[in-house]
Parts: sequence; C-alpha cells; structure tokens
Amino acid sequence: MRCFLSLTNRCNKQCEYCYYHVGVLEASNCEPSLDEIKKCLDFLHKMKCDSVSLTGGEPLVRKDIVDIISYSHKKELKITLVTNGMALAQFLSDKDMLNQISCFAISLHIDQHTDINSYFQYMNSLIKELKKFPGRIRLNFTLTGFNYHYFEKCIDFCDNLNVNFNVQPVVLDENRTGNSVHSLKNIKNEELEYLQMLILKWGKSSSNENYSKKLITYLAGQPIQYDKCLAGVNFFVIHQDLTLLPCFYRQDASVGSLLDKNSNINIIDLSKRFNNVCKNCQGPHCITLCEFGKYL
Ligand SMILES: C[S@@+](CC[C@H](N)C(=O)[O-])C[C@H]1O[C@@H](n2cnc3c(N)ncnc32)[C@H](O)[C@@H]1O
Ligand code: SF4
Ligand code: SF4
Repeated sequence: MRCFLSLTNRCNKQCEYCYYHVGVLEASNCEPSLDEIKKCLDFLHKMKCDSVSLTGGEPLVRKDIVDIISYSHKKELKITLVTNGMALAQFLSDKDMLNQISCFAISLHIDQHTDINSYFQYMNSLIKELKKFPGRIRLNFTLTGFNYHYFEKCIDFCDNLNVNFNVQPVVLDENRTGNSVHSLKNIKNEELEYLQMLILKWGKSSSNENYSKKLITYLAGQPIQYDKCLAGVNFFVIHQDLTLLPCFYRQDASVGSLLDKNSNINIIDLSKRFNNVCKNCQGPHCITLCEFGKYL
C-alpha cells in the first residue's frame, strides 16, 4: 500500500495548469508540523504500509525535508519523492538524504512561461547527477492543450537519458475562465492523430499498452472502461490537514483525521470504508490515479 503524503501546498513554481490553479483541488490553509508528519509516518509504519510518496505542493520547499526523509527511512518506508526538481540541485551534495530515496518522481512541467532550452538543459544535468544514486528515476509529463507539441521531445529526452517516462492528461474544470488554453478538448484532428500515434508507440515500448489505449480513447472524447478503483487497496492520501482521503479528487470523502484521537483509523478497513464513496465516482479524473496509479 502506498500513501501519498501531502507535506505542503507551498511551491517554488506556478504551473498554470496545476490542480490548485484550475479549480480541481482546494489547498488546505494549514501545513502539518514536523511532529505531525512524524505521527503520520509512525501510523504508516504501524499499519505496515510499505511506501510513501512525499508530495505537495513542492515537498522540497520545506526546511525540514531532510528530517522528514530520514524519519520515513527509519520507519522502513520506501520513499518516492514527487518533485518538480527545481530545488533538487541544491541537495546533490547531501548524499545521505538522496541515498534514502527509492524513487525520484520528477515532473516535467511545460506551460506558457517555460524557457524550453534552459529548462531541458537544467533537467539534463540534474538527471545525470541523480543517476549516481541508487533510487529509480521516473519522469512524469502532464499533457495539456498547450504543451502536447512537446510530448515527442519529452519522450526523446527520457530515451536519451535511459529513464522511465510516464504521461497523464491534465484534469481541470472545463468551464472555468482561462482554462481553455490547457484543455485537451481543442486539439485539431490531424494533430490529435499524430499525438495518439506517439502515445501508442510510447505505450508499446514502455509496457504501458493498456493505459496508452485508454488515454487515446480519452483524448478522442470516447467513454473509457475503467477498472475497479484501487483507492484504499493500492493507495490512499493523507492531505495537508491530515485527513485521510481515497485520492486527491475526493476531498469530500475523508474517513477521518489523524489529528482526531478518537478516529480509530485502521489501514485494513480503508478499502471497505472507501468502497462506498468510490462507487459511481469514476470519471475523467480517475485516469490519473485509478488507471495511471497502478503503474506507480
Ligand atoms: C501536484 S504536483 C506535486 C508535486 C510536485 N510539485 C510536482 O510538480 O511534481 C504532483 C503531480 O501532479 C501533476 N498535476 C498537477 N496539476 C495537474 C492537473 N491539473 N491535472 C493532472 N495532473 C496534474 C503534476 O504534473 C505532478 O506530476
Ligand atoms: S510544481 Fe507541482 S505543485 Fe508546484 S505548481 Fe507545478 S504542479 Fe503545482
Ligand atoms: S474512483 Fe477516481 S475519484 Fe474515486 S476514489 Fe478512485 S481515483 Fe478517486
């Protein structure tokens, strides 16, 4: 079982399509203290959870991130660091910290404000340095109506560096003013066909064929046959206010808070407790976790 532990809603980037900016997620006003995070990690250890994905916001903006990683490691959790990579170069000399990370999940972010050449140059030298550490490296690309032209460049970039590459479609409120530039619904037919061909090729070469076919169907605007939701079975979320959620999209579906001494939360019950909320809630947003999450 993997827990996505959201450490903060602060960030050192302002991606225009970020969940927090496109009407999908509400950032919580509070940020957990180091002690509270340690309590979460104690809970995960006690419940025999084996993996934690440290996410946010940007986890590396926390001043105590070294302590959080060290404590997660002490609690025998496999650590995935979900990061935009911008601050990671500052940590390259901290070999103890980086050696404790099992997976560097680095997001490739391209929006209207990205200076493409310097961005890829930075990422290239960062990844080369990270390859000296034992953790796996996986680059994630969030595909939007603005950046899909760069999809092929991202694949080639990862191929050249010989690192894994994953793609997920942007999720946004289609009715919100300003979001149409990021929407995947406005791609012209001939460009869409080319994009779909690239996705299929990527799916085959990366053993993500099923997922890539679903993504193509999704981009064509056709209904997808979703598999059963794995929230509470494979993954769950601890949000910044320490509520337990099935995924980031169901902030309404909390089954309690780790701050509540009487909540009596047990990981074994999670799938049962989430089962009711997850029923009938599948939709385009699920392609990023229900479907894509299986490969994390
Ligand atoms: C919210 S970020 C948090 C961690 C870190 N700041 C980062 O960017 O990797 C986690 C992942 O969510 C993805 N993401 C953000 N907004 C999204 C959206 N509206 N739809 C789909 N994925 C999104 C990002 O691309 C990133 O891979
Ligand atoms: S780097 Fe991550 S958290 Fe920050 S704005 Fe971009 S997607 Fe959002
Ligand atoms: S079905 Fe989708 S929205 Fe519902 S819990 Fe699962 S991942 Fe979240």
